[in-house]
Amino acid sequence: MDTPKWYPDELARAGAEHRDPSYVAGYDRKAAVDPAEDLALLRGLGLGARSVVVDLGAGTGAFALAAASHCGQVIAVDVSPAMLAALRAKVERLGLRNITCEQAGFLSYQHRGAPADLVYSRNALHHLPDFWKALAFQRIAAILRPGAALILRDLIFSFEPSEAAQSIDAWLASADQRADDPNPGWSRAELEEHLRDEYSTFTWLLEPMLERAGFQIEERRLSPSGIYTAYLCRKRDRATQPLPQ
Ligand SMILES: C[S@@+](CC[C@H](N)C(=O)[O-])C[C@H]1O[C@@H](n2cnc3c(N)ncnc32)[C@H](O)[C@@H]1O
Repeated sequence: MDTPKWYPDELARAGAEHRDPSYVAGYDRKAAVDPAEDLALLRGLGLGARSVVVDLGAGTGAFALAAASHCGQVIAVDVSPAMLAALRAKVERLGLRNITCEQAGFLSYQHRGAPADLVYSRNALHHLPDFWKALAFQRIAAILRPGAALILRDLIFSFEPSEAAQSIDAWLASADQRADDPNPGWSRAELEEHLRDEYSTFTWLLEPMLERAGFQIEERRLSPSGIYTAYLCRKRDRATQPLPQ
């Protein structure tokens, strides 16, 4: 199906750094993603050798690679060719046969085959403004079987708008404190860029979007800083559980 002309260019919005092979080469060290907690969630959902997992905005694949040993098939989707090249190289090096890498975005990925048992997305959805997040959730719901799960982690703010300056100042200051670490993660300037140029939103705006798309929020974990949120959601069976009006 052709993407409508009024859809955004997802690659153009994906962040210049994610299109840059030299940034991507240092990404794993910088991000230091530990997929253990999300793997435990995946196992708790009862996923196994027949399960299909789609990782949207998979990046260099920390979760997708780890999930491959617990599931039948993992489809790692990312809009950035540089990120996908790094991920494909790892898949080849590890000899994994049950991961497919696909260049596509939240708004263009076309799922084929059996409905997914889990969609996972970490720190990628904030590249879309809220209108498009709502449409992305509709698309995610459409590829999941009823009762299947969405694990969503991102920079989604749980502080009140009136607390924004204070919460964000504290977050930026934490980047300054890490500046001397051997692996400092993201700098103050990068966090400022995130706030200025990307589309993190509030939990109270995002949650109705999830519900409208047919998800029930089963678990919500908020970071003490108010910056990060992780959701475990289930796709409602529309026949038995109509959407809230
Ligand atoms: C901060 S990285 C996170 C990567 C990985 N999920 C992780 O946790 O390490 C954000 C990723 O989202 C991808 N991305 C940005 N916009 C996207 C979109 N519209 N659709 C799919 N992926 C997107 C970027 O290319 C990048 O790989």
